[in-house]
Amino acid sequence: MASIHAHIDGTVVILGTGGTVAGTAAAAADNVGYSAAQLGVAQLVGAVRALAGLPLETEQVAQIDSKDMTPALWHELATRIDVHRARPGVAGVVVTHGTDTLEETAYFLHRVLSPGKPVVLTAAMRPATSLQADGPQNLCDAVAVARWPGAGGVVVAFGGRVWAGSELRKVHSYRIDAFGSGDAGALAVLEEGRLRQFRPWPPCDGLGLAQLPKDGTWPWVEVVTSHAGAGGRGVEALVGAGVRGLVVATTGNGTIHAGLIAGLERARASGVHVLRASRCAFDGIVGGTADGWPDAGGLTPAQARIELSLRLLGATG
Ligand code: SIN
Repeated sequence: MASIHAHIDGTVVILGTGGTVAGTAAAAADNVGYSAAQLGVAQLVGAVRALAGLPLETEQVAQIDSKDMTPALWHELATRIDVHRARPGVAGVVVTHGTDTLEETAYFLHRVLSPGKPVVLTAAMRPATSLQADGPQNLCDAVAVARWPGAGGVVVAFGGRVWAGSELRKVHSYRIDAFGSGDAGALAVLEEGRLRQFRPWPPCDGLGLAQLPKDGTWPWVEVVTSHAGAGGRGVEALVGAGVRGLVVATTGNGTIHAGLIAGLERARASGVHVLRASRCAFDGIVGGTADGWPDAGGLTPAQARIELSLRLLGATG
């Protein structure tokens, strides 16, 4: 078993993008009425005594509430990660992020980055000013993962666990233990800075950025939801307005309301790409595409939207 001090030499570069981890509230007991993305990443790192003396660099790539994430910012973030991973003295890269679109950024980075040094995303459910602030521990854990011998791929260090970026899903809106990855479970747990690993590190898919417009002008892909009383009018309006792809957030194991299917059939006939993803909280669609509508397996609808966009851009693999 590796010791508590197991690490590889080299700098960890911490890229800041904002989020609750960098958020502040007027009162320490206020965990909902705060502003995200207020503190710079250097300030966040400087406030964690346990990180003092480690070879760390910080860079502020953005300062946003992650609900406002954009494909252009993903492009910029992936570019900066590539730059730092290519530096010989760098052991790995940590990204501080908001929790709200963490599953999307993690999936995007997993798909486009090449295999290699670890890229460890982290975040917090409580602002930095909170009595319950979880950011400092999550940041320490992320740095520990980035320095862990053999670590690699895009992973997320959060709440004492390490998740594969491709499998991450936000499953709670308030609890500190806000993430899961369905039946796959965590890759590892972090206990006192030590990693207890259950599964191998996930290699990135390495699609690259070459086919993705730098300005983030992705093809128009929307998510439509199948629900009681669903019909085709929304789909028809989207098709009429020029949508290129539709992700259907399906009921259960991939089922779609009969009223919506007719609209989707017409959309497909006019060249719109359709992909199913389950709206269930804890896992995706199991059992393949027997009914003729392709599915996104374990991806959440938001991740499936990225996947379909990448396919429409010709970046597949
Ligand atoms: C955000 O996603 O930027 C705000 C919410 C959070 O980080 O928990």
